[in-house]
Amino acid sequence: MHPLIAERWSARGYDATATIADDELAAILEAGRWAPTWGAIAPVRMIVGRRGDATFEALVGTMRRGNRSWAPAAAALVLVCTTNEPDDAMKHDYGAVDAGLALSQMILQAEALGFNGHPMAGFDKAAAAEAFTIPAQFRPLAVLAVGRIATDADAVPAEIRERDQQPRTRQPLDRVAFAGRWGDPFQ
Ligand SMILES: Cc1cc2nc3c(=O)[nH]c(=O)nc-3n(C[C@H](O)[C@H](O)[C@H](O)COP(=O)(O)O)c2cc1C
Repeated sequence: MHPLIAERWSARGYDATATIADDELAAILEAGRWAPTWGAIAPVRMIVGRRGDATFEALVGTMRRGNRSWAPAAAALVLVCTTNEPDDAMKHDYGAVDAGLALSQMILQAEALGFNGHPMAGFDKAAAAEAFTIPAQFRPLAVLAVGRIATDADAVPAEIRERDQQPRTRQPLDRVAFAGRWGDPFQ
């Protein structure tokens, strides 16, 4: 795998003093904007906060408790929204795929710039929609935290440090990639 992919992980122990420059944040958002998009509709919209500004604080305010314990140390938070068209299954489903692709590209661009990107579903979507007056034809799907991993481990609360030290696992490839029929390993 490319090192950007192999070395990516969802960290929580961020450096609460690290900031992100305008051009770095713009590059990450551009990576999302240029993700593949079903039907060239490009339904993804983003609400962007930097630590210390009102947008960031409002996003933190929507977070579930678990995320509120670490995500406020991010340098930036990006709320990713996509089309909300429950009566049009194609637009609705592939709008979510588009959002996932945008997230993925943003995470890798963050990684390339020395930041960590950590997606979150643990936030109150209705509260986010209200806080940012998101129109009904869009839905908030995920928040991406972008932060610098703390180099001083002692500056990270022990509970967060322990979560970051948990081993990362996945199913083996022959359990997820099939050929011929479902369940038969592809090679
Ligand atoms: C759609 C989505 C929602 C997620 N929501 C959260 C979340 O609310 N809080 C959190 O700490 N991590 C969240 N994660 C991160 C996952 O927990 C993480 O990707 C998974 O444990 C695998 O770890 P890795 O990214 O380090 O490989 C989410 C990931 C995805 C893709």
